[in-house]
Amino acid sequence: MSRKILVTSALPYANGAIHLGHLVEYIQTDIWTRFQKMRGHQCVYCCADDTHGTPIMLRAEKEGITPEQLIDRVWHEHKRDFDGFHVEFDNYYSTNTPETRHYADTIYGRLKEAGLIEIRSIEQYYDPVKEMFLPDRFIKGECPKCHAKDQYGDNCEACGAAYQPTDLIEPYSAVSGAKPVRKSSDHHFFKLSDPRCANFLKDWIANPEHVQSEAANKLGEWLQAGLSDWDISRDAPYFGFEIPDAPSKYYYVWLDAPIGYMGSFQNYCDKNGLDFDEYWKPDSEAELYHFIGKDILYFHALFWPAELAHAGFRTPTGVFCHGFLTVNGTKMSKSRGTFITAESYLNHLNPEWLRYYYAAKLNGSMEDIDLNLEDFAARVNSDLVGKYVNIASRCAGFISKKFAGKLGTCDAAATAEFVAAFDKGEIAQSYEDRDYGRALREIMRLADVANQYIAEKKPWAMAKQEGREAELHEVCSTALTLFRDLTLYLKPVLPKLAEQVEDFLNLQPLTWTGAWAPLPAGHAINEYQHLMTRIDPKKIEIMVEENKQSLAPTPEFANTPTPVRHAEHQQAKVEAEAAATPWEPFISIDDFTKVDLRIVRIANAEHVIGADKLLKLTLDLGTETRTVFAGIKSAYAPETLIGRLTVMVANLAPRKMKFGMSEGMVLAASDERGGPFLLSPDSGAQPGMRIK
Ligand code: 2FM
Ligand code: ZN
Repeated sequence: MSRKILVTSALPYANGAIHLGHLVEYIQTDIWTRFQKMRGHQCVYCCADDTHGTPIMLRAEKEGITPEQLIDRVWHEHKRDFDGFHVEFDNYYSTNTPETRHYADTIYGRLKEAGLIEIRSIEQYYDPVKEMFLPDRFIKGECPKCHAKDQYGDNCEACGAAYQPTDLIEPYSAVSGAKPVRKSSDHHFFKLSDPRCANFLKDWIANPEHVQSEAANKLGEWLQAGLSDWDISRDAPYFGFEIPDAPSKYYYVWLDAPIGYMGSFQNYCDKNGLDFDEYWKPDSEAELYHFIGKDILYFHALFWPAELAHAGFRTPTGVFCHGFLTVNGTKMSKSRGTFITAESYLNHLNPEWLRYYYAAKLNGSMEDIDLNLEDFAARVNSDLVGKYVNIASRCAGFISKKFAGKLGTCDAAATAEFVAAFDKGEIAQSYEDRDYGRALREIMRLADVANQYIAEKKPWAMAKQEGREAELHEVCSTALTLFRDLTLYLKPVLPKLAEQVEDFLNLQPLTWTGAWAPLPAGHAINEYQHLMTRIDPKKIEIMVEENKQSLAPTPEFANTPTPVRHAEHQQAKVEAEAAATPWEPFISIDDFTKVDLRIVRIANAEHVIGADKLLKLTLDLGTETRTVFAGIKSAYAPETLIGRLTVMVANLAPRKMKFGMSEGMVLAASDERGGPFLLSPDSGAQPGMRIK
């Protein structure tokens, strides 16, 4: 049965560039919506720029342009970046639109009618020169705890203390430098503390379809602690929508941001003849999913459903929450060049490499995911180029050269074996569950089966022997059918590569519906063109260099979230300390050669029951295998290690450990900045080679 599904990703702020952290979410959502569409469902993916608020207003002023000019420019930059990564929105809109204003006014008006809006006077810091109230991040002063100067109004970057802006010693406005004064003004509150909201939310989060269990726990804690009323208005000057019955008061940006989902969808409906109400009425049968990061769970799983439910709209079917991105095991950092913008990535690397890597790491949970740049190259090169593309590149040439580009019959036994080797329903379920890692592991297992078939049949040898043409034709046709199936399974992740393969195999766009028949005998294919190159690690290095920036403080009005900024300062301190660590005393070359270091291939890696830190590794030295217990569990999922090369101490005396005998040691780097990071040799190194 065809489902009606509306999907959203969080709306990015219209004053900053899209970076690789953002892309975890957009790629994750895009894969899911492409999968649903391939299954024949009516799935609409809407998003928009989040355009309102003080930072955007001040940035425009600083640039000497209007906020409208700023958000227009940034919209085009964002759209360019999303297109570059093949994130295919059905509608990419803006919150500064009549549709979003209409729904903001509707929701506000209905909440007010329901008695859920209250006006209260509150006292805040006010900049008398700029004549504006100051959000916390725009007030600076001396930390009340450690007395560090120039700290923000919400927390201290030197000692980490959190406080109210009114606690700062000698506060000043980060906008004008003036001494702020305290001033009262009326604010509009959404009464989340009303028992109607609390009761509704208690039931809402109890439904496991609405939020993941980790999220439900967190939400439960917040509910338990009691919900405070939410301040949804801001005073002029503000860039946003003026509240209809309150001149000079504006909706706070976070009030109209999620309403931007409705605005974007309304705009899509108007352009495509869909009925908005069919999706948004309280008893709608359509499904509504929001993909979000864990930092904005509060807004999406408490404020948003409570607003919708009490304003006569449907509530989300599910809020899918994901973790943050780390790069090389730590927070993205400008000084290290790992705060990588989408634009800069696209200048150097293929977007589908990143789509594949993120997909391999995503499992539908709220855990953070790590982009380990070395592992990224190794993984993509080994899976996509070494396993998947390799199938086509080894077989396609024979079809063009020897059989005039036409396929022969398929090997029925091999095809049956292949079909029996996996369960396409399981792959579909993994995509549905957003456990793309599991889907890709299964798909790569199938690629292994296909490669094994080719390795056993050796078409290149057949091609040299007279009288084996029919066999050669059959093997290559079978392998290309398997390649077609793998392409179909990978298509949500690699949409452009799949298009190239559809062209090459001369096929209609692959979908997940219909029968799984082998490619028919006589089917003409096109000449094979190279499908994907290997990642050259040098290009990654160049990209990282390009993203390195000095540690000069970011301007106050930048929308950089606190944790990232804080991490940078912390990091500069650690880097300085690390540089000062004394080296070990000198040793002679003879001492060094006593250590027998060898290249090994990790043949297997698995968890050890009962061990918090250890993974059990089976290491292939070329001539023998060894079992080693390594304390690297915190940094590596075992399945990501299998097949990679690393370095071991081969002559370390075997050591009996609680979980078994450890026959050597693998080498890894670490300090306060992160790790452990396993070592990898340059390409060409083989298991058993000595390191000297
Ligand atoms: O955190 C952010 O980047 C916000 N701009 C997300 C808004 S999501 C939605 F509510 F619009
Ligand atoms: Zn402090």
